[in-house]
Amino acid sequence: MTSSPTDSKASNSKATNIVWHEAAVDRDSRASQRGHRSAILWFTGLSGAGKSTLANAVNVELFQRGLATYLLDGDNVRHGLCCDLGFSDADREENIRRIGEVAKLFLDAGVITLTAFVSPFRADRDRARALVESDDFIEIHCAAELAVCEQRDPKGLYAKARAGEIKEFTGISSPYEAPESPELRIDTGGRLQDNVAEVISYLEGQGLIAAG
Ligand code: ADX
Repeated sequence: MTSSPTDSKASNSKATNIVWHEAAVDRDSRASQRGHRSAILWFTGLSGAGKSTLANAVNVELFQRGLATYLLDGDNVRHGLCCDLGFSDADREENIRRIGEVAKLFLDAGVITLTAFVSPFRADRDRARALVESDDFIEIHCAAELAVCEQRDPKGLYAKARAGEIKEFTGISSPYEAPESPELRIDTGGRLQDNVAEVISYLEGQGLIAAG
């Protein structure tokens, strides 16, 4: 598939008189030049569930195998592309909409794209999934109990949320809707290397990457 807009996105556009331009170098050409297909690895989970840590470690492993990869990370993207957004439901929806669209562009660029966002709402994740073909989107639930994330509290945000200093904090005062049937559910309570191996072996099993 190419990066041409779906009907739904086309109809959402505010602009008129715009015509899709087919690029001469397409996704298939990039895949055959690079020797691998692209895909979106969508990591979702509570703050402190280990999304960034796992996505980073998987990214290192893929990079060391010589594959084209890129990691879009929630905290980082919110410093730039999404710096105008907060954490209301509507802002999170827009955050995830933008990330879905950016990931779709990276997919077309032939890059294995890892995204690490809380992405708490099922409908928002499903919209990102619907932008691409079904085998292009691999949802990875970084599953950790709220109590465990709160106990880890790597950035001290749960403590602030409990103290009422952060409003609409996921898990405390804003919901997290766990995926019902993600491609992968990883219990992030174990060893990081085991979690990485689980993701890599899934990707090998799907034929996305060659067995290493
Ligand atoms: S999302 O809900 O829109 O997907 P995103 O992944 O971009 O969130 O950003 C989450 C990160 O922002 C968390 O890891 C945390 O460090 C920080 N953060 C700050 N305020 C909040 C909040 N109210 N809820 C969740 N995360 C927050």
